[in-house]
Amino acid sequence: MAHTLGPLPYPFDALEPFLDARTLEIHHDKHHAAYVANLNKALEPHPDLQKRPLGALLEGLDSVPEEIRTAVRNNAGGHFAHNLYWRTMKRGGGGEPCGPLAQAISAAFGSFEGFKAKLTQAAVGQFGSGWAWLYVEGGRLAVRGTPGHDCPEMTGGRSLLVVDVWEHAYYLKYQNRRADYVEAWWNLVNWDAVTL
Ligand SMILES: [Fe+2]
Repeated sequence: MAHTLGPLPYPFDALEPFLDARTLEIHHDKHHAAYVANLNKALEPHPDLQKRPLGALLEGLDSVPEEIRTAVRNNAGGHFAHNLYWRTMKRGGGGEPCGPLAQAISAAFGSFEGFKAKLTQAAVGQFGSGWAWLYVEGGRLAVRGTPGHDCPEMTGGRSLLVVDVWEHAYYLKYQNRRADYVEAWWNLVNWDAVTL
């Protein structure tokens, strides 16, 4: 069973003016597609691993044969992270969550503004290519940045929300101004898709 690239949950231009259509098209159809293709290629000689769901691959990297472990880590991680990234953005997003998520964020970070500052700092401060996550670990919400395509699932966490800070996510529109891209991204967060 091969892993497949799902369609973007909205048209390429849906996230304008914060994210431009050309960036979304290349990001989804070229970059994300390549991670899926390279994951399938790495798993090709391992029929037993082809049956393993994406989440289980990430959680059980230690049991993946060493000769493909780095490829699986990079490409399964990339596939997983992009799925969450697409799903947790929408046109007309932004604002603040409500209900139990809002309460959990206040409990963990003091306030929504405190959370926003912490995730922004993780995203802008991540050295080189990577991601910044809101995730659950040990029953508590936490924020952190990761390099490459590493994700909290690889260390026992469960991801809720993520921002892609690889240059391919923003360079056409924002060039080196990662902080401006991250600030714009807050206007796209689809809180309905962020589930505790
Ligand atoms: Fe990306």
